[in-house]
Amino acid sequence: MKRTKINILRQLDKTPGQVQIKGWVRTKRDSKEFSFMEVNDGSCLKNIQVIANKDLDNYDEIQGITTGTSLMVVGDLVESPGKGQKWEVQALGVEIVSLAPESYPLQKKRHSDEYLRTIAHLRPRTNKFGAIFRIRSEIAFAIHKFYRDKGFKYLTAPLITGSDCEGAGEMFRVTSLSPADVQKSGKMDFSKDFFGQESNLTVSGQLSAEMFALSLGDVYTFGPTFRAENSNTSRHVAEFWMLEPEMAFCDLEGSMDHGEELVKYLVGHAMEFCEEDLSLFFQFVDKSLPKLMDTLMKQEFARLSYTEAIEILKKSNKSFEFKVDYGIDLQSEHERFLAEEYFKKPVFLTDYPKTIKPFYMRMNDDEKTVAAVDLLVPRIGELIGGSQREERLDRLEKRMEEMNLPKDPYWWYLDSRKFGSVPHAGFGLGFERFLMMITGVTNIRDVIPFPRTPGNIDF
Ligand code: 4AD
Ligand code: MG
Repeated sequence: MKRTKINILRQLDKTPGQVQIKGWVRTKRDSKEFSFMEVNDGSCLKNIQVIANKDLDNYDEIQGITTGTSLMVVGDLVESPGKGQKWEVQALGVEIVSLAPESYPLQKKRHSDEYLRTIAHLRPRTNKFGAIFRIRSEIAFAIHKFYRDKGFKYLTAPLITGSDCEGAGEMFRVTSLSPADVQKSGKMDFSKDFFGQESNLTVSGQLSAEMFALSLGDVYTFGPTFRAENSNTSRHVAEFWMLEPEMAFCDLEGSMDHGEELVKYLVGHAMEFCEEDLSLFFQFVDKSLPKLMDTLMKQEFARLSYTEAIEILKKSNKSFEFKVDYGIDLQSEHERFLAEEYFKKPVFLTDYPKTIKPFYMRMNDDEKTVAAVDLLVPRIGELIGGSQREERLDRLEKRMEEMNLPKDPYWWYLDSRKFGSVPHAGFGLGFERFLMMITGVTNIRDVIPFPRTPGNIDF
């Protein structure tokens, strides 16, 4: 079968003529003389109306077409006299590829997001999820374009790793030991395991990115990361995609400048290239989205220290579920208050207490805080987490000792501070959180094709 995919929307911008459409029937109605079918080929939000008249050889068969049926149509694209669409296709031939039975789960009524999660294999055939996943695809492309234009090199960091970057102990173990052997010996003998040591799925590509930044200059990783956090929230999944730029000869401020430019670019790209799909979210999901997009693109992001933020939160007189005090890890409610209510725009928070941050962050002169930065955005809370890295060998070793981290497994990481170390900084941007922000979708499960969450690995 020759695959000449027609992008319906693009075709409509051109002059009318003969077209071929391959897609799925969204709705259909029949009269004695005609069958009207709304067909969508997945390329864009709009359907195209196909009209088949009774003179077609297989008109009987066409009348039996059901919602969800896949078909190929050849016809004339003409201006539509009817209401609701500018163009329609007058079919010269309709070939049914596969007739869907009446049990097709996507009938014309509106289905809830919760229900659609139970049929995640079919939800991209709905308007909303089709739009989400086209936007997701376009933004992934925009990320690569942004970095290529800036001369960054793309690094694919390993997914299986022997080190714990974040030190939060939320890793998924990777093993080839058989459960029976483990049971027999009563323990996991990692020396007999595939890699001869304990191995896990990565929680971040940062450590690899640092090594490459100190060789190739500016680099980025963009790929899946895994966390075994047992937090069933609307902002966490066990497998998510993270974009991690790492910049050599760069400090915390440079990293914030970069993060702000990146977010503005990606939002601008979405507005330019996902206009039709975004319009669905502007109209039906969250009417305040256009204003947020405008804020993201045009307003300078706020920048303040963790300590200043704690003061603002304390003085706010808001009754938070989690009490605010210096030293706490900020909760989503605190982050959202700052971005949504107080500043009403994205906020960079810097210089967090060392006690709540990983070993690799650069120690500040006060010896109490580290050069960390989080970007908090309205509705989401934390979108970006990053830092300037500790490039001074003695300070890094001291910090690892304080945190009881063994140095041996990190010999290579320490080497990078011995041989030509330079100040460097970077961050991780949660790809799904970014998509939630620009679409107004409130559950992270709805912006990732097949979400992995505690107790759920279907599809
Ligand atoms: O703040 P995090 O943990 O930062 C790091 O992993 C650093 N090593 C990144 C770096 O400096 N190169 O995670 C970065 C971002 C968060 O701000 C959040 O947007 C997202 O990743 N994130 C998650 N997204 C979905 N589900 C989860 N369970 C997430 N955990 C973090
Ligand atoms: Mg974080």
